Amino acid sequence: MDITKILARSIKLIYVLLGLSIVTILLFLFPSITGLFTSENIKIDPETEQAKQTLDSAFTNLWTAPAEWRLSTKPNKAEILYGKELIAHTARYLGPNGSVMSISNGLNCQNCHLDAGSKPFGNNYFAVNSTYPKMRARSGKIEDKVKRINDCFERSLNGSGLAADSKEMKAMIAYIDYLGEDVPKKEKPRGTGLFKIKELNRALSKTNGEKIYLEKCQSCHGAEGQGVLTADGKEYTYPPLWGAHSYNDGAGLYRMSNFASYVKYNMPFGVSYENPQLTDEEAWDLAGYVNQMPRPSKDLSQDWPDISKKPFDHPFGPYKDPFPETQHKIGPYKPIKDWYKNNSK
Ligand code: HEC
Ligand code: HEC
Repeated sequence: MDITKILARSIKLIYVLLGLSIVTILLFLFPSITGLFTSENIKIDPETEQAKQTLDSAFTNLWTAPAEWRLSTKPNKAEILYGKELIAHTARYLGPNGSVMSISNGLNCQNCHLDAGSKPFGNNYFAVNSTYPKMRARSGKIEDKVKRINDCFERSLNGSGLAADSKEMKAMIAYIDYLGEDVPKKEKPRGTGLFKIKELNRALSKTNGEKIYLEKCQSCHGAEGQGVLTADGKEYTYPPLWGAHSYNDGAGLYRMSNFASYVKYNMPFGVSYENPQLTDEEAWDLAGYVNQMPRPSKDLSQDWPDISKKPFDHPFGPYKDPFPETQHKIGPYKPIKDWYKNNSK
């Protein structure tokens, strides 16, 4: 073979090798290009029911709400729209100055179930139609949609529930069913509810949480966590995070893991699973701060009739395990989880 050809070939080879190494270096410098090295991908706990979602941190093919035009095909379109309105602006109808009744604290369902419960990983309602009625360990009973919705009225809205046959309850269910009508029975589609964030190996830091709160949250939610009312005083522009008008200590968000998961992918307002701004640590420490501030309390003596089913972060004993309430409240949670792994049956 002629020497110039050999030379030409080796130069090509060198170019290819150079190219490959540059790409590799770039990938390490900017892992976000690939999403390959994001924190959600490391240390997956195969025990959690969210493991499947966790593996899926590329967040592709998430379920979405039915397209707008689908509504026009519904004979009960007006009822569905009333249900959506009640979820988006609950306080205007059912809050302290509500036009229909006064049964709740001034929050809207939408404050926690974003985009009227249709936002992927924004605590949406996609799996409600497909999975209720279902057994819930908190009550130890089979719960239907009415009971589950009233749970949020009594806890998240620190108020009282609606009658099953009321116009308002029926409308909310009509809307929630419409959102999930294409979801196959018993299935939880991708993007349902909240994306559970990875645990910390340490206890939550209230001090660190307070620091982050002042930097990233108080501009909207207020220095006292009190929120900001609209000009007519009928609902919140920025809802309260603690104090007399906030959710009570029996609410879903009062569990640190729910709060951290909600906040990580939805706050500061405007972010989503596509562009979160908080690190996992920040989200957990914010939970540790906000959920240790004063708020209304509920009689929870009937909750968790089987104490062995209490979640690791349920902050009220008695427990089957030997850990104190404070550790259940602020962690570290891993020893608790490990104890249940080693002591189940
Ligand atoms: C302060 C926040 C907050 C408010 C306000 C709130 N919820 Fe919830 N809701 C939650 C959280 C958190 C969960 C998930 C709890 C869990 O999984 O433990 C939840 C769960 C639910 C579920 C069950 C979802 C499922 O897939 O199992 C329904 C239905 C529901 N809420 C309806 C409502 C309705 C209707 C309203 C208004 C009347 C409302 N919620 C207001 C926080 C809230
Ligand atoms: C730009 C304003 C803004 C900022 C900054 C912001 N939020 Fe919010 N937050 C909102 C709004 C608006 C809602 C209600 C969303 C809706 O109704 O659609 C909300 C809702 C919430 C809720 C659920 C409702 C409730 O009252 O419990 C929590 C929890 C929350 N925010 C926590 C935080 C935390 C923690 C931070 C700081 C990382 C933060 N937010 C930063 C505007 C903001």
